Amino acid sequence: MCGIVGAVAQRNIVPILLEGLKRLEYRGYDSCGVAVNSQGLKRARSVARVAELEREVEQTGFAGSAGIAHTRWATHGAPATNNAHPHFSSGKHGENFIGVVHNGIIENYESIRDELKAKGYHFESQTDTEVVAHLVNDSYDGDLLRTVQKVVKRLTGAFAIAVFCKDEPERVIGARLGCPLIVGLGHGENFLASDAMALAGTTDQIIYLEEGDVVDVKREGVRIFDRDDQEVQRKAQTVTAYSGAIDLGPYRHYMQKEIFEQPRAITDTLEGVQGFVPDLFGQRAEEVFGQIDAVQILACGTSYYSGMTAKYWLESVAGLPTSVEIASEYRYRTPAVNPNALIVVISQSGETADTLAALKYAKELGHKHSIAICNVATSAMVRETELAYLTRAGAEIGVASTKAFTTQLTALFLLTLTLAKMRGRLSAEEEQQQLRNLRHLPTALQSVLALEPQVIAWAEAFARKENALFLGRGLHYPIALEGALKLKEISYIHAEAYPAGELKHGPLALVTAEMPVVTVAPNDALIEKLKSNMQEVRARGGQLYVFADGDSHISSSEGVHVIRMPEHYGLLSPILHVVPLQLLAYHTALARGTDVDKPRNLAKSVTVE
Ligand code: F6R
Repeated sequence: MCGIVGAVAQRNIVPILLEGLKRLEYRGYDSCGVAVNSQGLKRARSVARVAELEREVEQTGFAGSAGIAHTRWATHGAPATNNAHPHFSSGKHGENFIGVVHNGIIENYESIRDELKAKGYHFESQTDTEVVAHLVNDSYDGDLLRTVQKVVKRLTGAFAIAVFCKDEPERVIGARLGCPLIVGLGHGENFLASDAMALAGTTDQIIYLEEGDVVDVKREGVRIFDRDDQEVQRKAQTVTAYSGAIDLGPYRHYMQKEIFEQPRAITDTLEGVQGFVPDLFGQRAEEVFGQIDAVQILACGTSYYSGMTAKYWLESVAGLPTSVEIASEYRYRTPAVNPNALIVVISQSGETADTLAALKYAKELGHKHSIAICNVATSAMVRETELAYLTRAGAEIGVASTKAFTTQLTALFLLTLTLAKMRGRLSAEEEQQQLRNLRHLPTALQSVLALEPQVIAWAEAFARKENALFLGRGLHYPIALEGALKLKEISYIHAEAYPAGELKHGPLALVTAEMPVVTVAPNDALIEKLKSNMQEVRARGGQLYVFADGDSHISSSEGVHVIRMPEHYGLLSPILHVVPLQLLAYHTALARGTDVDKPRNLAKSVTVE
């Protein structure tokens, strides 16, 4: 999704702005731009990568001590230079008077645009953002802060903006409502960004702005005003989490690095866990968990699949009726509400617009309690839920989610066992056994990661295919879904996942000798059923690619390719089984030469609807 960087300093801030944009590239974008206030507003924009913009800027001697910059992921208007930010407004105060960058969506932009067109403003883009530039210009009363405070009250939707004005060359104003915006504090220089990652290496002193805040950024300091225009103090935090994240180390891509970071990410997520106690989830957790009689999970994409896996755990282990729903569907329907169902929102970023809206909607519908499973402590989702468990995956840069998924599963397993224990469904002996399994999980993951060379050999064959089927059963059906999502996202191979028992009800018609069928084969209670489903595939000539537990007695034969996993890992088995599927997607994409970390059309942290 889009990224914002802004800076006011004594030195030339263009290198800081461009470095910030590079650090935000991981979020996905299709155009970028930078503008400075140096004897008038000047800008450079490009539909190429930030490196290209940098070359263009270097050639023109573009410099200034106040500026704004942006990476754009198109929503309104195609990825074209005229739609790239910063947008400028010319009008009653002269040429290029106001410059704006914006994340999110201005929902009422059409009516404002009509009003401004009637006043003679010329629109050169199809974006919703341009109305903000013209509206600030039209409302300008000699003080940019006061003007922006007035203007944001007219905007509806979800947005973060950074604005500057030709007549106030040492000032950038920021505002947020529904999209993240942070302030970075330096010595005699201050910054704005949509994500602390953008400022890693520039400053580690970060203020997370709150909903409705407007900030006045100047060299000598920043002033923050709340939605009622009252000046407020927001505490700065030292944020060092991002310093190593950008470093690829020995890996070719962030996705590969993040797959291999999973043992560490799970160890960190389990830090301090001595038993399955409600306190892990927040001070009020014991009281809240005592009041719930069901669970409603809301999430999107990969996070939704971790929720699907958790449903199997929560129902079979904790005995709690559990529904899982895609947030973008839930938010627009009228569900039958059980107010005592615990709302569980799952999100890597904690800023996903659909999940946030579903959470708000669930509260409006009368759900009394909510918890976030989230990777970002300062995110809106963590702020808006009563309880939270923070996964400690560290910054996830690859667009395709990997370590966020396995750490979410780890957290959801902790939640399941805590609820099971409170409900008298976990003996002391079982608790100790599950704790041992959890502690051993990072080591077990290392042995799965060691299968990479075997997966690479399969990836060569997959790279030549245009379709693939993924099969799983029970607890591992969501893992098959996640495997198919990973493959389609980054290799662009069309992939579908089915519960293996469903094959004969339709998808079997697709099976030919050309169709690779990836099978997730843990040695659990359903293994014999799964073996029968595999026979159905073989009988139609389909090629099976099986990830089989070491003790499942499945061996290679004609048309049956097997990679042997460690022995069955019980309830935690999904966390092991997803890893070779991540590696398969990664190496297939590599063999096909796609842009693994920035797959086409996709973005990290989907902050628009
Ligand atoms: C897939 C992927 C997406 C995200 C989804 C939710 O690899 O990354 O499907 O899982 O956009 O994002 P979060 O977890 O940030 O809410």
